[in-house]
Amino acid sequence: MLQIQENVSLKNFNTFGVDAKAQYFVEINHKDELVELFMDLQWKQMEHLVLGGGSNMLLLKDYEGLVIRINIRGIEHRISHDDVYVEAGAGEVWNDLVNFCVAREYAGLENLSLIPGSVGASPIQNIGAYGVELKDVFYSCCAFELATGNFKTFTKADCRFEYRESVFKSELKGQYIIVSVKLHLSLIPNFNLKYGAIEQELKNRNVINPTLKEVSQVVSHIRVSKLPDPSTIGNAGSFFKNPIIGADQFSGIQAKFPEVVNYPAGDGLVKLAAGWLIEQCGWKGKVVGNTGTWKNQALVLVNHGGATGEEVYTFSSQIIDSVYTKFGVMLQREVNTIG
Ligand code: FAD
Ligand code: EPU
Repeated sequence: MLQIQENVSLKNFNTFGVDAKAQYFVEINHKDELVELFMDLQWKQMEHLVLGGGSNMLLLKDYEGLVIRINIRGIEHRISHDDVYVEAGAGEVWNDLVNFCVAREYAGLENLSLIPGSVGASPIQNIGAYGVELKDVFYSCCAFELATGNFKTFTKADCRFEYRESVFKSELKGQYIIVSVKLHLSLIPNFNLKYGAIEQELKNRNVINPTLKEVSQVVSHIRVSKLPDPSTIGNAGSFFKNPIIGADQFSGIQAKFPEVVNYPAGDGLVKLAAGWLIEQCGWKGKVVGNTGTWKNQALVLVNHGGATGEEVYTFSSQIIDSVYTKFGVMLQREVNTIG
């Protein structure tokens, strides 16, 4: 039986720690409960917000509508020759799934260690870190279609993954709830160690031929050293995407700022490090009211305690303006703003 609660604080359900309330709140433990929920017209017609770990959202105000927290659990795995297929419920914690796979020597997720949030949200922005993206290991996902009450399987091609993007964030935004994700892993590791920080940390540890576990540990170590822990200081990871610009615009910027941090992004495009751009504008480690940027990573906006979503949002607009004024580059928010 579904338990719909009223007037629920979301403070512990978003990693920014913003103290906003949900008018209605329901936890979904099994995919059939979604069918039950949406058979009732009251809930079907109401505004709703799907919530996983709340680690990529900024709540601007109290949520007038139904918050649907996905808590569908379960991990199944099947081995066929050297291939491993792992299917996990959307409510599984992403890093628990990574640990499950690393412990069994299923290769592919090690660089994605310690990313907060749920399995169900991982396809939404095609999570990525240290040279690997979800799309590199994604096989399919199963999602509930709100309009019809049917479940649909999305292949990798259907998801139209790009850097921090998918069909679920664009054309199909708000139309589906992901209930499970299936990954294609391998028993044969294909390590991606080209990130300078990974190479360096392996060297520091005198590791020449790392195991999956060692790579996972190194990635986790690097992350902890750079990123604030949401359990002590509210944040949602990178607040903005790294901007991708054309070659001509890049040449103009590089002529003025030869040290601009950049990476090739294919098709002649160039990706800039938003953290570098923000730092150059003097924002790194700045405290502004209850918010600010993280001292070790200017791309991460933080809640120093008691910040409202509006306060963080206004601060993020100031950053966008100053980066635009200095570099002519318009930053896009990665974090989903709600309200
Ligand atoms: P939520 O914040 O709950 O939701 C995010 C969006 O997805 C919302 O729009 C929500 O409505 C929607 N959604 C959630 N679940 C579902 C579902 N089952 N079906 C449909 N829609 C759904 N991200 C990276 O890519 N790489 C990183 O390295 C990284 N590092 C981070 C570090 C820190 C310290 C933090 C706090 C965040 C970081 N992030 C990173 C961002 C975040 O971890 C990911 O975006 C993660 O996938 C969000 O998962 P979640 O369950 O918390 O999503
Ligand atoms: N940099 C600065 N100043 C800063 C921050 C960064 O100059 O304050 C420079 C660094 O020196 C480095 C470059 O910017 O040369 C890139 O920094 P970093 O390696 O920390 O990575 P990032 O581009 O800031 C991205 C992702 C992270 C992901 C890491 C590792 C985006 C928006 N962010 O960060 O993802 O974990 O790479 O792969 O793509 C997230 O999406 O929430 C997230 C944390």
